[in-house]
Amino acid sequence: MLFDFSARAAQDCYKLLASTIVPRPIAWVASVDEDGRPNLSAFSYFNILTNDPAVVAIGISTGEAGRTKDTLRNIRATGEFTVCLVSEPLAQQMNTTAIDFPPGVDEMAIARLRAAPSQFVRAPRVADSPVAMECVTHQLVPVGERWTIVLGRVLALYVRDDCVLDAKRHYVDTSKLQLVARMHGRGWYARTTDLYEIRRQTFADWNAREASGSPAPDAA
Ligand SMILES: Cc1cc2nc3c(=O)[nH]c(=O)nc-3n(C[C@H](O)[C@H](O)[C@H](O)COP(=O)(O)O)c2cc1C
Repeated sequence: MLFDFSARAAQDCYKLLASTIVPRPIAWVASVDEDGRPNLSAFSYFNILTNDPAVVAIGISTGEAGRTKDTLRNIRATGEFTVCLVSEPLAQQMNTTAIDFPPGVDEMAIARLRAAPSQFVRAPRVADSPVAMECVTHQLVPVGERWTIVLGRVLALYVRDDCVLDAKRHYVDTSKLQLVARMHGRGWYARTTDLYEIRRQTFADWNAREASGSPAPDAA
């Protein structure tokens, strides 16, 4: 079945996109307002886009009655934020911070999370989050009437010590991070534990296999 987006309400497009583009990593974005008051919220329209420079993207919509979300307001005001990643032990607290609290509410305190100071930006990071990126605004891209894509340049990335396998070679124990991702609907999440490997092949590998007549790895 082909769903023509030109003939569909935005909410229906959301249902189709959010239930098919899965799993989505979750950016737990910490920011501060002009007066230094902290804010923390979750965003699953999120991913890394480039690594030179390192840029992440977060899609933020307006909230109820067209209200600008605190995260976007703070990023506009300060140009700084952190993106913390959500591990399974923190998932319930992440859900609490996504409640539409009024401006000025410290979601970190409400969710009983500890803040740790950042090195390069004023926004703190969630101390127990196994990964956190310190970011400055690279660009804000307005999209349509309700959306802004925040492109954030990553100045530094914190990884919890016990998850670093080899700092010199930049090897991280990804499974140990226990990250969760967003699935379909409002309340479904996935663990990142059901893994399997597909070996990358070069053109030379492919040629050698063709020449030897051995079956392709994807042959039934
Ligand atoms: C897992 C999860 C993912 C979310 N992803 C987004 C998103 O990508 N974009 C968005 O605008 N809101 C998203 N939300 C909703 C925001 O977290 C929510 O509107 C929050 O109250 C915004 O807080 P703020 O006003 O403090 O910035 C998500 C909520 C949850 C629980």
